[in-house]
Amino acid sequence: MLKDIFVSEKQMKEQIEYSEKVKSLLCVRYPDKKPKAFTHTYGCQGNVADGERIRGMLAAMGYDLTNSPENADLVLYNTCAIREHAENRVFGNIGALKKYKKQNPGMVIAICGCMAQQSYVAQKIEKSFPYVDLVFGTHALHRLPELLSKTLCRGKRIIDATESDGVIAEGLPVARDNNTDVFLPIMYGCDNFCSYCVVPLVRGRERSRRPEEIIKEAGDIIAGGARLITLLGQNVNSYGKGSESDTDFSDLIRMLDALPGDFQFDFMTSHPKDCSKKLIDTLAGSKHYCRHLHLPVQCGSDRILKAMNRGYTRAQYLSLIELVKNRMPDISLTTDIIVGFPSETYEEFCQTLSLVEKVRYDSMYTFVFSPRKGTKAYEMEDAVPKSEKMKWFSQLLKLQEKIQKEKQKIKKTTQMGC
Ligand code: 5AD
Ligand code: SF4
Repeated sequence: MLKDIFVSEKQMKEQIEYSEKVKSLLCVRYPDKKPKAFTHTYGCQGNVADGERIRGMLAAMGYDLTNSPENADLVLYNTCAIREHAENRVFGNIGALKKYKKQNPGMVIAICGCMAQQSYVAQKIEKSFPYVDLVFGTHALHRLPELLSKTLCRGKRIIDATESDGVIAEGLPVARDNNTDVFLPIMYGCDNFCSYCVVPLVRGRERSRRPEEIIKEAGDIIAGGARLITLLGQNVNSYGKGSESDTDFSDLIRMLDALPGDFQFDFMTSHPKDCSKKLIDTLAGSKHYCRHLHLPVQCGSDRILKAMNRGYTRAQYLSLIELVKNRMPDISLTTDIIVGFPSETYEEFCQTLSLVEKVRYDSMYTFVFSPRKGTKAYEMEDAVPKSEKMKWFSQLLKLQEKIQKEKQKIKKTTQMGC
């Protein structure tokens, strides 16, 4: 039997009641003004989409959304755990909030998202930052009204990093800064367990929204003036797996493409191991597809791909790229690359360089490996010093700059009609 991953209507109604309760509490606390809420989101597009729902909930609870933390009555950081650097930045910024809390002791400080979902991080925040009032993980996002109401009522700190496989909460209010370029989550979580990646640990198991909910929301977004819709999921190619409907990602794209309106769609992220011929054919035949494909390769060496648990070889990736280029010669290709995975040698890194030379991406997101607690790679021996990895990293950047310049030159020449 399929597990019920959807938050029930009854539970969502309870949250609306909590939201009304917060509204009344705020009226008593701030009889002469509308309280202000400042939020900041770190990290990926999935986090940005969560942040838009958080802002929607805060607005529904009676907060005015502000762009400055200084005179805010609530400050919320929606955090990212993907690399150590991202986490350290957040810790630094939480430290800087102390002075605001001193000036305004009634200010509520909340930390949520991927960092807060890791219990050891939640404990660290609890211990090292006593002026933080509320900490909650990704799985508790839809319960923000309840958690905030308890924080305001009890005046006690609330830490909620409860583990869960993850749920889907439909119908949350959304406050977007931008209505023309819109993110539309279609699924959550990840089951791939790439050995370096913390996402499956903080975002739970893979689960898909119902196609009719997605298409209805897409229709509303288009009617609201969207010109670009980006479908979001950690691995959109496995959309629909394990759900009650037999709609797969290609079917969903066909449904979206059939919607009327002057819009384009994009999607992130596509996993090369699940990128099927059916999908490429569907994309090639879609009139609204923006012809951009983000296909993270991570590295060019078969031994490292295996150690990363990526599920494809260099040759399989390259033949997929060839198929995509053949079917859509005007496609714009982007990728993610990790430099310096544990035990990677310079010769193996050179295979990444040669793969990049072959594919000639339009742009790349490049990262130096960052050990993440709880992942397999965290336990692996890593003898190459960071200074050496940084040299490889700049070599990769130089190569990409060269490719981009050459591509721009070709583009200019063709535009000039030569
Ligand atoms: N270290 C470095 N980069 C990472 N990524 C994910 N986890 C790590 C890590 N531990 C990169 C991958 C992924 C992108 C979103 O972030 O390239 O595709
Ligand atoms: Fe992380 Fe791999 Fe899942 Fe992407 S597919 S979120 S890299 S585990």
